[in-house]
Amino acid sequence: MEHLRETEEPNSGGRLAGKVAVITGAGSGIGRAAAVLMSRQGARVVVADYDAGGARGTAGLVAAAGGRALPVTVDVTDEGSVAGMVDAAVGEFGALHVLCNHVGGTDPRKDLDLLRMDMDEFGRAVDRNVRSTLWGARYAVPHMIRAGGGSIINTASVAALVGDVLQTSYGAVKAAVVSITKSVAVQYGPQNVRCNAIAPGAVMTPALEKNLPEDVIEALKRGNALPYLGAPEDIGHTMVFLASDESRYLTGQLLVVDGGMTMQSSAAPGRRAMLPG
Ligand SMILES: NC(=O)c1ccc[n+]([C@@H]2O[C@H](COP(=O)([O-])OP(=O)(O)OC[C@H]3O[C@@H](n4cnc5c(N)ncnc54)[C@H](O)[C@@H]3O)[C@@H](O)[C@H]2O)c1
Repeated sequence: MEHLRETEEPNSGGRLAGKVAVITGAGSGIGRAAAVLMSRQGARVVVADYDAGGARGTAGLVAAAGGRALPVTVDVTDEGSVAGMVDAAVGEFGALHVLCNHVGGTDPRKDLDLLRMDMDEFGRAVDRNVRSTLWGARYAVPHMIRAGGGSIINTASVAALVGDVLQTSYGAVKAAVVSITKSVAVQYGPQNVRCNAIAPGAVMTPALEKNLPEDVIEALKRGNALPYLGAPEDIGHTMVFLASDESRYLTGQLLVVDGGMTMQSSAAPGRRAMLPG
């Protein structure tokens, strides 16, 4: 996160000037990077997370750089809580233009292969990834229409695109997020509300960096076409683009931001060794 402070200053004439953005899961990782980067481009941001300390921490980073942020405690699996988050955003800043439905994921200890997956965890995965996305959009869309348009950005995953040996629920719920993205884009496009999704590949959030063994990190790197793994800012910059009017002709799309992980043949790492010289 350090290098975020060294890039450009918050910008009242920036790419997101005048916009109000709500970002769920902004208390850490990718959501935090998105909040800081959006604020730098002039957005006022609502930093929503169920970790109140994390949300305050992100809001502090935004404020320290001269931006405006409102930390809000939310549980995106609770409809009333999501409604309260949107109300808080509009109450504080008077409008809503951007929503990042970023919270998601499953418990990898319980989300296993078909025969061993915990079906209760599947239900929780639907709540955390799918219902949360639907609720966020349902409460945000009327405000966006009132504002003359808006941009909803849903966080999917490359898991929506490829089969995996475990995390059966994760792939299924992220595929649902992609489908919802297309429906919302079609339904509210006429009112100038755009809806797109991002499929991150391996992104080194502080939590992952601390917990993943070095050999796993190396294996992930070999799976990418690029020689490195993603940083939270790589997804955050894509969110800034999708939030901004630069992407005004883009809706219903899934942007795969994965260092080339899913476009690379599984044979490629081995075949590199066959190249002469
Ligand atoms: N990091 C990756 O490699 C990667 C890859 C693909 C997709 N994703 C997706 O990115 C999102 C997670 O982002 P991250 O990597 O920054 O993770 P993270 O763990 O750093 O951040 C997730 C944040 O969400 C908050 N949160 C969790 N459950 C919540 C709830 N019910 N209500 C409100 N807040 C809640 C946590 O407190 C945390 O601050 C998920 O949708 C995940 O599926 C991540």
